Amino acid sequence: MSEAPRLIDVMTHRDARGALGAVEADKDVGFPFRRFYFLYDIAPGADRGAHAHKALAQCMIALVGGFTVTLEGRGRMHRFRLDTPTRALLIPPGLWRDLTDFTPGAVCLVAASQGYDERDYIRDRAAFLAWEKSRG
Ligand code: TYD
Repeated sequence: MSEAPRLIDVMTHRDARGALGAVEADKDVGFPFRRFYFLYDIAPGADRGAHAHKALAQCMIALVGGFTVTLEGRGRMHRFRLDTPTRALLIPPGLWRDLTDFTPGAVCLVAASQGYDERDYIRDRAAFLAWEKSRG
């Protein structure tokens, strides 16, 4: 996938019964999914994330409610407010992420390019900056 995070439109099929959203790994995202996970029952005022992934790519959707995703890396910061299931955020590897300002009842779905592996995480901010520097 491209180096910069970006929003994509989710194919949405709406009719009298309601709405159905669909995201295709090959056509829409550019990397295959090996895992999905979801955040819900977020405590009031709680933040998530505060880590980077070395190799993992992710596709993130606010299925219910909204939250803010701040991504940092390669000398840039990107901020996205996700508050509709009609858009998905594609997050390339190597970026520090903070998820903040969840609305009550928000549900965040993440499709990930790899299975869960704690060795792919950088959870310390100073270590992330040193890792970035070491990549040149
Ligand atoms: P954590 O990385 O703190 O969540 P967030 O992505 O919101 O920052 O993960 C919380 C716990 O869940 C931690 O013990 C690791 C575990 N976990 C899994 O077992 N599998 C997974 O796919 C994920 C994303 C986390």
